[in-house]
Amino acid sequence: PEYELVNLTINGQFFKLKLQPWVSLLDAIREYAGLTGTKKGCDHGQCGACTVLINGKRINSCLTLAVMKDGEAITTIEGLSDGTVNHPLQDAFIEHDAFQCGYCTPGQICSAVGMLNEGRADSLEDVQELMSGNICRCGAYNNINAAIMDVKS
Ligand code: FES
Repeated sequence: PEYELVNLTINGQFFKLKLQPWVSLLDAIREYAGLTGTKKGCDHGQCGACTVLINGKRINSCLTLAVMKDGEAITTIEGLSDGTVNHPLQDAFIEHDAFQCGYCTPGQICSAVGMLNEGRADSLEDVQELMSGNICRCGAYNNINAAIMDVKS
């Protein structure tokens, strides 16, 4: 068929999307579900701007076809805050001024949430290594790492 029906729960909201089979999860989230917090940087799995969480695990949504995630529950940057109370990493990014232009920030924060869920980051060096898939062209890495280390401690 030219279109597939794809069921996605995004931030607790149910979406039934009619998508062509080659639509990426990133485009489904942004263009079809209308949630533009998740960003498209490279669209090739190299920058991390499109990072979202599935069952607490981080994935590059640009590298995933939406049809492959039929029935899954996805959390995007919009879902980390209830609109009143921020996720601790969101507060830490604000406190540590962990951005300049902000374009990579949703991916950085979702990736950091997933990394902390993995429980493998013991040191600053671990954080640097495990966050190396998220590129910041402004070079705000020191403040990003400081924000993450603050939440970790
Ligand atoms: Fe997905 Fe760059 S937009 S990794």
